[in-house]
Amino acid sequence: MAQNLENKLPKKIFIKTFGCQMNEYDSDRIRDITEKNGFTTSNDIKKSDCFIINTCHIREKATEKVFHEIGRIKKIFRNKKKPLIIVTGCVAQAEGEVLLSREKYIDAIVGPQSYQKINKVIENLEKRKSKIDETKFDVMDKFDQLHFVKNKNNKVSSFITIQEGCDKFCKFCVVPYTRGPENSRSIEHIISEANTLVSNGSKEITLLGQNVNAYNYKEKRLSFLINELEKIKNLERIRYTTSHPNDMTQDLIKMYSTSKKLMPLLHLPVQSGSNKILKLMNRKHDVNFYLNIISQLKKNNINMKFSSDFIIGYPGETKEDFNASIELLLKVNFIQTFSFVYSPRPGTPASNAKQFELVENKKRLMQFQKIATQIKTDYRKNLVGTSAKTLFENKLPNQNKYFGRDEYSNSVIVESNDNLVGRIANVKILKANNQTLFGEKIGIKNEREFAA
Ligand code: SAH
Ligand code: SF4
Ligand code: F3S
Repeated sequence: MAQNLENKLPKKIFIKTFGCQMNEYDSDRIRDITEKNGFTTSNDIKKSDCFIINTCHIREKATEKVFHEIGRIKKIFRNKKKPLIIVTGCVAQAEGEVLLSREKYIDAIVGPQSYQKINKVIENLEKRKSKIDETKFDVMDKFDQLHFVKNKNNKVSSFITIQEGCDKFCKFCVVPYTRGPENSRSIEHIISEANTLVSNGSKEITLLGQNVNAYNYKEKRLSFLINELEKIKNLERIRYTTSHPNDMTQDLIKMYSTSKKLMPLLHLPVQSGSNKILKLMNRKHDVNFYLNIISQLKKNNINMKFSSDFIIGYPGETKEDFNASIELLLKVNFIQTFSFVYSPRPGTPASNAKQFELVENKKRLMQFQKIATQIKTDYRKNLVGTSAKTLFENKLPNQNKYFGRDEYSNSVIVESNDNLVGRIANVKILKANNQTLFGEKIGIKNEREFAA
């Protein structure tokens, strides 16, 4: 009897996500797919029947994090029936065999191109078949199959993966090996998913891809797709990430003067300000090329701002090369910078390079981040007294305060007795710190225009 009852209860799945926005999107899709097979997502680790650990391999200790996570689950389930353990994501792709052989508690590994098969994997595991390894690259199959599973996201701001993979092979990076070659999803499927999200209440869509601006579906590029998305009436904002400088084509640059919905912030990773290092990295662009793109974008929209990624201490980086990165940081005035000490990744060409100076590199990173933070602080101080068009995403718990983002993705909080969720308001900024802008609303967007 108890057994029967147990079988009738919905099975619980617990998904833990590491890494980039695409991994978050993937985890949401895994949730949508497994729901079709009777799973509900759970936030209670102890009451879960199946664990999915969606992993990231971009920087150090990725594999250790997986073993640590499994150790935690093992402890909790020491005297109970073992739950299913499935490792997905980029570590599964890159180190799947190592994971399966070193940790017997893992039941299956599923690579980023195989999520469409997750229900089958779970069914097979429940039938007590042997360990499963699904790590083939089959991105078109994934895109096509996922189209039949409705995206149930109902957030004000949501993601759509439009492109996966990378053909650039920067020498430090695992992505080409974990996500496979560049592949673009069909326009029809993307528009259909965007329509679903907007009818669920989304007002902002961020298009995702490892090289999102390399998007190319039957010769239709990202600019074409953005134009199509603009036609969706209740969609207010379009963003995309992450871009490679070499794929900032003229059609896309021009979108910044013609598009009404494309936001004026571009995340354009550069990695280094030294031509020598860019060459060693196999970035296929130099500093002048990068600066030229920035100036062309600004010509198209004077309000454009930029964020970027830098790697500090790449093998061969001298003090001069490092100073060149600082110079570039100051020249472009990035409003947000993500910087990391170079981490040798197994299997990448750079990982064979001569050992580098970790202590010196950490010192360089601190120096770099201090300057990046100062630029950010100055920028944000200057926002006080200005107004910012803010799209509100949610109400803060137990307070009459709403959280939203301005056009440059800065977090904004205002007090309001009206429900602002899903609405755009003009906000006067009264106070700023490096995390949040605080302000008061001075007008709410009504149809296309501001009322005040
Ligand atoms: N597709 C994007 C970046 C993807 S990875 C691009 O082309 O730029 C996100 C960031 O992680 C990179 O921009 C880089 O700054 C950082 N990164 C990637 N590999 C790294 C490594 N081995 N060590 C340190 N940082 C790394
Ligand atoms: Fe990695 Fe980006 Fe370079 Fe591709 S372009 S190899 S994703 S850093
Ligand atoms: Fe990490 Fe893979 Fe994304 S390595 S950053 S999860 S593409």
